[in-house]
Amino acid sequence: MTTSLPFEPLAIVEGIVSDLADHGDGVLSWEDRPLMVAGVLPGERVEVAVRKRYRNISVGECLRILEPSPDRVDPPCPLFGRCSGCQLQHAGSDLQHRVKRRRVQRALAAAGLDERVVRPTWGSPTALRYRNHARFTVVDGAIGFMRRRPKVHLPVDDCLLMDERITEAVARARGRVDDATQFNVRVGIRTGERMIQPSFGDRLPVPSGQPHVHEVVFGHRFRVSAPAFFQVNTRAADLLCQLVRHVVTCGPARRVVDAYAGVGTFAAALADVAERIVAVEYSGPAMDDATCNLAHLGNVELRCGAAEDLLPDLEGPVDALVLDPPRRGCHRRALEAVVAARPACVAYVSCDPASLARDLRLLTRTYVLDWVQPVDMFPQTHHVEAVAALRREDASPIPPPRAPAPTYEAP
Ligand SMILES: C[S@@+](CC[C@H](N)C(=O)[O-])C[C@H]1O[C@@H](n2cnc3c(N)ncnc32)[C@H](O)[C@@H]1O
Repeated sequence: MTTSLPFEPLAIVEGIVSDLADHGDGVLSWEDRPLMVAGVLPGERVEVAVRKRYRNISVGECLRILEPSPDRVDPPCPLFGRCSGCQLQHAGSDLQHRVKRRRVQRALAAAGLDERVVRPTWGSPTALRYRNHARFTVVDGAIGFMRRRPKVHLPVDDCLLMDERITEAVARARGRVDDATQFNVRVGIRTGERMIQPSFGDRLPVPSGQPHVHEVVFGHRFRVSAPAFFQVNTRAADLLCQLVRHVVTCGPARRVVDAYAGVGTFAAALADVAERIVAVEYSGPAMDDATCNLAHLGNVELRCGAAEDLLPDLEGPVDALVLDPPRRGCHRRALEAVVAARPACVAYVSCDPASLARDLRLLTRTYVLDWVQPVDMFPQTHHVEAVAALRREDASPIPPPRAPAPTYEAP
């Protein structure tokens, strides 16, 4: 078989893309097993070179789009396809939103839950230049990203997901960071601040090595240290705060627990509607930031430790509980403690539909899942954030959230 491909294809096949898999690849069928192909969309007729056959799937590369989808758009980034950071730039935002909703629905259905509770995805206020944080890898002085499969370094001058101040930092650092392996930039989209890590001293014409940066979310100002977690899409983080607040205020929000609190994002957003908030977080640097960010509120108590260790010891009644664990989801002991605390409602914020569905399966033994709202925190990629609204069986249903509120640009 002769083609100009850098590999000898097992076959050249023509077919119609039936679906998009969770990681954004199109799914076709070849030899009775799924054939995964990047850069194609559902409904498209495509010509594919089959590259490799694995036990359960095969992998191919698209040679030609024979009949394009009406949802196809020109990818705005010239690196799309070569860089593995974005998987969906060739899909219009409506399709991206449908795909992400479908992804959450599939995860719930696979866990035996009712997928009909998943609402249409809320879009990000901006679909490009939304990221406040970049972690670049430096190889032989070139700043870029490690791409997956094959694992090679791709130098990047301008990633269109990043705020322009990040691109500007890359331009200033070019040719001056030869001995580094990492180049990390975090900006305050609403404060104009920038933090570059590590410290490059006077080798850079701009300051670096700052210990933290400030950002504004939902009208609150946060200090964020280099090692602390912070939502990467500042404007869409407002939407998460809106959703969490909506769930928590559906019942009596006297005593609220914010578990996996980070630098205090949700605790701050809830401080004016709760009498008392207990925020639980195990990262020391995030706790230090939260101490600084929440001190002026007066009704937030911080507890440093693992949620699975601290939640079982919660004293007194809890009216509402927020869970925002890392990608792997909650420890089983944390979920059992949530059930034992019997809050009237739980807002579960998640960046991984599979671990969300697994944890919801346990929580729905005693709680009712009213709805799940996907939010497109990461446009152009396959990633999706979701907020699930749960209530105790004897509590009133949590109404569906209203339309996204306008974002909070002012500090
Ligand atoms: C997805 S982030 C959410 C942070 C915060 N809610 C926000 O919106 O910025 C998850 C946070 O949980 C913390 N974390 C991870 N495992 C934890 C555990 N077992 N117990 C408590 N906190 C944990 C991480 O340090 C991180 O700050």
